[in-house]
Amino acid sequence: SVIVRSSSSAKQSLLRRSFSSSSVPERKVAILGAAGGIGQPLALLMKLNPLVSSLSLFDIANTPGVAADVGHINTRSEVVGYMGDDELAKALEGADLVIIPAGVPRKPGMTRDDLFNINAGIVKNLSSAIAKYCPHALVNMISNPVNSTVPIAAEIFKKAGMYDEKKLFGVTTLDVVRAKTFYAGKANVPVAEVNVPVIGGHAGVTILPLFSQATPQANLSADVLTALTKRTQDGGTEVVEAKAGKGSATLSMAYAGALFADACLKGLNGVPDVVECSYVQSTITELPFFASKVRLGKNGVEEVLDLGPLSDFEKEGLEALKPELKSSIEKGVKFANQ
Ligand code: NAD
Ligand code: LMR
Repeated sequence: SVIVRSSSSAKQSLLRRSFSSSSVPERKVAILGAAGGIGQPLALLMKLNPLVSSLSLFDIANTPGVAADVGHINTRSEVVGYMGDDELAKALEGADLVIIPAGVPRKPGMTRDDLFNINAGIVKNLSSAIAKYCPHALVNMISNPVNSTVPIAAEIFKKAGMYDEKKLFGVTTLDVVRAKTFYAGKANVPVAEVNVPVIGGHAGVTILPLFSQATPQANLSADVLTALTKRTQDGGTEVVEAKAGKGSATLSMAYAGALFADACLKGLNGVPDVVECSYVQSTITELPFFASKVRLGKNGVEEVLDLGPLSDFEKEGLEALKPELKSSIEKGVKFANQ
């Protein structure tokens, strides 16, 4: 029994070593807009992520309180709050991943494009700072309109001479989260088992869920599929209207943002077969940016996956979304270069 005990304790100590925090790489994650509606719960969720060793919370106001609050949680990462442009450099230096939920949210009656005038400038400035202070970081863009803010960041990065298309992501995970939830409800399958790719972009008809590829499969009528597609496309508006002037999705977005950031960190750490949908530079269609399934790896995007077979309804949706997505991309590119 002595031998058994010592061999099991040796095994345990081996296990402890392989799972100890020292064997997990150090990763600094910066959240820009960390005191906002998304930023605060996202900061909480990233503080709970054992892959994060340093959490940098930046905003133009209120970060000391958020950092002090989140920082008391007894998990791995250290937490530092940075406030105001003078502290942006320190917030970004050494970051492996920068998540950007900075900017104004919609009110009822607005489109995401109505946010362009304010958010484009915010994203432009933050992208310039990223180019300067952490040019090798992965960037997860949440700020709307994502269809334009990602091209803006790409153009700013190109001007700075550090653009790496593998490292820039528009976060469309919330569309996937919604598609999964709505599909599970109609298909009567356990929501935790559901997978649904969502392609295109992140606004209205540019959001195209591929329910024909949803698993577990279910035999849903054309009417139900049309309704599910529309509900996914209008998911953001559903929340904006329910909040009645008090902003847009923050909690479900924080969840989705944390999920996508975790996938990026796993990719960086060499975990194989990490696949998520994201809006990235792409040659899958004729559009220069497009959301589809992406394999994540040590350098960011490892592979942009094919769309797979589409139903006739989805093929129509794909053609219908292209003009709007194209013009949103062009609007972003033009803004960044003016
Ligand atoms: P919010 O107003 O609650 O928070 C935004 C935060 O950004 C504020 O704390 C503000 O101080 C900060 N901010 C403004 N300018 C900044 C700057 N230059 N640098 C750093 N921080 C700055 O808004 P929210 O509800 O958190 O939404 C933020 C953005 O995310 C909006 O544009 C919204 O449309 C978008 N959004 C995207 C998705 C998505 O799926 N991609 C989902 C939900 C919301
Ligand atoms: C969402 O999809 O919830 C976000 O893009 C916010 C919005 O304005 O709808």
